[in-house]
Amino acid sequence: MTSILDDLKEIKSLDTEDMLGIEENFYNQLMEASRIAEVADIAKIKGRKFSGIAILGMGGSGFTGDIIKSLVMDEVDIPVEVVKSYQLPGFVNKTWLVLPVSYSGNTEETISATSQALGRGCELLCVTSGGKIEEIVRKYGKCLIKVPSGFQPRGALGYLFFSTYLVLANLKIIKVNKDDIEEALDLIKKKCALYKRDVQASKNYAKIIAAEIGDRLPVIYGISGILSSVAYRWKCEFNENSKFPSFWDEFSELNHNGIVGWGKLKEITSKFVLIVFKDDAASDKIKVRIETTLRLIKDNFYKIIEIPVEGKSKLAKALSTMYLGDIASVYLALLNGVNPTPVDKIVVLKAELAKLDK
Ligand code: F6R
Repeated sequence: MTSILDDLKEIKSLDTEDMLGIEENFYNQLMEASRIAEVADIAKIKGRKFSGIAILGMGGSGFTGDIIKSLVMDEVDIPVEVVKSYQLPGFVNKTWLVLPVSYSGNTEETISATSQALGRGCELLCVTSGGKIEEIVRKYGKCLIKVPSGFQPRGALGYLFFSTYLVLANLKIIKVNKDDIEEALDLIKKKCALYKRDVQASKNYAKIIAAEIGDRLPVIYGISGILSSVAYRWKCEFNENSKFPSFWDEFSELNHNGIVGWGKLKEITSKFVLIVFKDDAASDKIKVRIETTLRLIKDNFYKIIEIPVEGKSKLAKALSTMYLGDIASVYLALLNGVNPTPVDKIVVLKAELAKLDK
């Protein structure tokens, strides 16, 4: 059977801003991010010790904080706080390094928390393509990781996340293993070749996932740690690219509440697809939790899709699993006749809020 996802002409006419092309280019984006990290202006804070780092940011930019925190939290000896709010937590003081991450540089929650950080005398390392955050960098002489403009923030995650991660390693705030980076980049390079548009739907796992979801609601179950962040990213990408409602949860917390919720409303949940990450390296306890949970709740769903997690290092696992969801969400959009790029409701909301500042 031919799939609309193999009709390259149709894809081109629907995907007018080429979100699929941006996804296909993910490996190159990561390579460019390595160069951005090398030239980042960080002289002012090199060699400084901080008692904690706070990574600020919302939506597509905010995911930088989620993924970095989940990658390093077992190893760092200082707190790594992710802030997705107007308010900087009270314990963040001038001994902390604050990283405002905003692709546009104009997101008001990020700017508000950044102003509070400035007021408390915190050192800043800003990650942006421009906007008000770049103005703050110039005005107060703060450090900057400047990423290219012209993307949707969620489509610039390779730039935002990877350059920040590498700069934090250069600053010796986090430890990054060269072999892990090599493994992750090799794996992503392979995956880019396997998931691109000219690989037929029957052999392209990203297209297969999109087709398995079809017109049903995806619920994603991650595992506490990197695969929890990735489950959240899949949910966000199904929302923003595919314009689908989507929900997520994580093991083992969901075993204390969410699992019980799959009881009533079967006529509705039978249109849901449950997506579960399967990591062979997970502990036996987690494996039993997943197997038992699926046995107990499987009748509530249209189907369960188990996604094998690839890679040895946390970085390779996180990036390869995330990338599959990112590109599958674009294929899901196209399969349902949706242009993946526009996020009109976000634009309307930001405009309404901007009126309050006039
Ligand atoms: C849009 C997107 C959004 C934005 C968010 C914050 O593609 O991903 O989730 O990331 O509205 O805006 P920025 O990233 O410019 O700070």
